[in-house]
Amino acid sequence: MNKIAAVQANSKLANSKLAKSKKASQEVSARDLTATSLRAQLAPQAVIANDAGPRPERALQFLAQEKPATPCLVVDLDVVERKYAALQAALPQAEIFYAVKANPAPQILGRLAAAGSSFDTASSGEIRSALETGAAPDRISFGNTIKKPADIAWAHGIGVNLFAFDAIEELRKIAAHAPGASVYCRILVEAEGALWPLNRKFGCVPEMATELLIEARELGLVPVGVSFHVGSQQLDPSQWDRAIAAAKSVFDGCAKAGVTLNMIDLGGGFPAEYAPGVAGIEAYGAAISDAITRSFGQTWPRLIIEPGRYMVADAGVIEAEVLLVSRKSSSEERRWVYLDIGRFGGLAETEGEAIRYRVEALDTVATATGPVILAGPTCDSADILYDKANYRLPLDLKAGDRVRLHSTGAYTTTYSAINFNGFDPLKAYFI
Ligand SMILES: Cc1ncc(COP(=O)(O)O)c(C=O)c1O
Repeated sequence: MNKIAAVQANSKLANSKLAKSKKASQEVSARDLTATSLRAQLAPQAVIANDAGPRPERALQFLAQEKPATPCLVVDLDVVERKYAALQAALPQAEIFYAVKANPAPQILGRLAAAGSSFDTASSGEIRSALETGAAPDRISFGNTIKKPADIAWAHGIGVNLFAFDAIEELRKIAAHAPGASVYCRILVEAEGALWPLNRKFGCVPEMATELLIEARELGLVPVGVSFHVGSQQLDPSQWDRAIAAAKSVFDGCAKAGVTLNMIDLGGGFPAEYAPGVAGIEAYGAAISDAITRSFGQTWPRLIIEPGRYMVADAGVIEAEVLLVSRKSSSEERRWVYLDIGRFGGLAETEGEAIRYRVEALDTVATATGPVILAGPTCDSADILYDKANYRLPLDLKAGDRVRLHSTGAYTTTYSAINFNGFDPLKAYFI
């Protein structure tokens, strides 16, 4: 019998609340949902059924038939392609630049290139991976605001012409090593409602962005626009509102100095379905379209989006093995469950228990569950996946049982350490 265990007791009550709030969430428009209410909906709160989240069927079939050694990730490429199509339909005016960092497997990049995607890259390595799909350099942006001069020169030399920056020093680097290139400035925005915020490290305030874009022209570059990222796994579609208004203020400031901008890069942030209650991608498309119209009227700038997580997370499932179930004392109710995958094997986004994967126990028969602390196999005590999140797993779970971690197609393989404690990097299959 299979059971997906997500967390906390009082499950009947929580389940009925969850069902009611899910129905209610379909009835109110996404813009009415505050980040707080969304977060409350998404807080793990019940033992949920097998069909409670996306199930990449072909990947599950592969696991059942091939029984590959664990731990491993299986990604269903058809799901990736369907996600691309759904996002394109939700926001048809935007050009999709897939954020390669989410999962740079050539199989994924190839599928997306064939579907028409362009690519947002963070390094020369990612640019090479994008080029290997046959994508022309004009379908690649160098979106990292922190670049090596040699990488800027190399990228420009092979035809990449779109570069991000958020500081004068970076702008001067681009002017020196990619003369005449098109540049866009990343602005700081709020990331309320994001489970994996990206707001502090990148971007500058809109006033500084205006000055820098004007300076870009003086440096012989072509200032084209503004970018931002409202935070990854952004649960509140209305978060793009303020960011788009801030971008418009930069457009206006530049226009006063005779610099015409024509592009907004709306970043990533579109969510995976780690838990029920996530607004559909159509709600994101509608909220963003409304916000653009409010700021720009009928004359929209060129729009770029850089989805990573949305595109690949739900397409992937990790199968792992239970190595040990133990208690620290005979009076303690909570069991420690150690898996053959942990923080260093690809599950880095469990840091702070921010991203909470659905965990399914495969080989148990008990229907009753009890509280667990989930941990990885390495000798590092930071290698604990979930302690505070109140996960529950079947009471008869034992060493040797297999578990599945769902929606794990994004930000897993590339985070897995090469040989920490002698463990191999996470093996992945793309079908
Ligand atoms: C510049 C940039 N664009 C896009 C993304 C992808 O974001 P997400 O996975 O939330 O869609 C990231 C994530 O780190 C990013 O840094």
